[in-house]
Amino acid sequence: MSGSQVLRVGFFDSGVGGLCILRAFQALCPGVETEYIADTAHCPYGNRPSEEIRKLSEANVRKLLKAGCQMIVVACNTATAAAIDYLRAKYPDVPFVGLEPAIKPAAQKSKTGIVGVLATAGTFHGRLYNETKAKFAKNTTVLAVVADEFVEAVEKMYAGMGVEEILLRLGDAAGGDAPRYGDLEPIVRRRIEPLLKAGCDKVVLGCTHFPHLKPLIEKICGDRAEVLDPAPAVARQAKRILMERGWL
Ligand code: DGL
Repeated sequence: MSGSQVLRVGFFDSGVGGLCILRAFQALCPGVETEYIADTAHCPYGNRPSEEIRKLSEANVRKLLKAGCQMIVVACNTATAAAIDYLRAKYPDVPFVGLEPAIKPAAQKSKTGIVGVLATAGTFHGRLYNETKAKFAKNTTVLAVVADEFVEAVEKMYAGMGVEEILLRLGDAAGGDAPRYGDLEPIVRRRIEPLLKAGCDKVVLGCTHFPHLKPLIEKICGDRAEVLDPAPAVARQAKRILMERGWL
């Protein structure tokens, strides 16, 4: 990056999910310009073949690079699983930050030795997830739950809203004034209750659409399980990379 260039970081997801990552990043690095692509024309990514997700991800990356982004946050667990190795090889000069279910902290912090991971099928099939699980959750029972219907529910919840409004609503949720979830509770409860009954004390949000439902998931978990949201750690990692490169 040259001295006169404006620092700009690009984010993409299949839809509005990754806005929770964008919001955490903006809170940590307020002076940095950002670009966000919600590839809603192809949402959801969750059940698409890896090859197709790679192509969609690369198209998003090209647009972000064209818009002048110097670093890219793949704000989608599914796209990270399918495409991050490919993207890093294809664009070796561009730093990429990816998303991966937080199994390691969940396993380390669990007292019951049972953790639940909510993600898409694509994420569960990925190399990253399976390697991390084998390495850091050997002695932990990991209950993997595909919750694709949450993706659709979140997209619907924000239908017709622009990015700024969604970011504001996310802010309200973070401040305790939960957004109105309408009739989503039974849909969410159906996935969470079996985990709690099985003894899970950590619930990992392994898809960026899911932190948008965090207040509701936390309400269902009560004091039975802690909900792990990846956004703050990913934002810190993005900031660390910018600082290492001397860009920030
Ligand atoms: N938000 C995405 C993720 O983190 C993908 C959801 C989807 O498109 O299926 O995995």
